[in-house]
Amino acid sequence: MTFEEYDNSEVLSLISHPIAIITVCREGKLNGMTAAWVSRISIDPPVVCVSISPQRHTWESLEPTDHFGVSLLGKGQERLAMAFGTTSGRNTDKFTDNNVDPFIGAEGIPLISGSLGAFVCRKLKAVEAGDHIAVFGEVVQAWKGPDIKPLQWYRSEIRK
Ligand SMILES: Cc1cc2nc3c(=O)[nH]c(=O)nc-3n(C[C@H](O)[C@H](O)[C@H](O)COP(=O)(O)O)c2cc1C
Repeated sequence: MTFEEYDNSEVLSLISHPIAIITVCREGKLNGMTAAWVSRISIDPPVVCVSISPQRHTWESLEPTDHFGVSLLGKGQERLAMAFGTTSGRNTDKFTDNNVDPFIGAEGIPLISGSLGAFVCRKLKAVEAGDHIAVFGEVVQAWKGPDIKPLQWYRSEIRK
């Protein structure tokens, strides 16, 4: 059995993450980006944390606003994960480009219909952590979708 000190990014890639689309609405303009660094933090109240680079257009919209959405992607939504994760809403409307008709939840936050589940969060706190910002949000509304297998980010790849 081997157990050896190793490159930290290789070992960190062994953390299995969900694949989600983080959504925002600023002055009526919708955007969303794929995120794997999403975690539940508290049971009561229900709190999640998402990690967003300050370079993302999504952060520019979320910084001055109070709510965001998290839609958990499932099998069959791989193309959407890549589309929302490789283009920026700064130059394009990802919803129109990808024929996604978002479902509008509380506070006007768009959610991805057909996802496993989705929730709207009220931003509690944003904390700089290295080159990302950890955004904590209390879940204020939750939606359940079809019972499909979750997409996961593991070893720097999408797994289904
Ligand atoms: C599978 C996958 C996971 C990603 N996870 C994150 C993440 O957790 N945090 C982050 O800041 N960017 C993440 N990204 C990158 C953003 O989704 C990407 O930079 C996106 O184009 C940003 O869009 P925006 O400029 O419209 O906000 C991920 C991309 C992919 C494909």
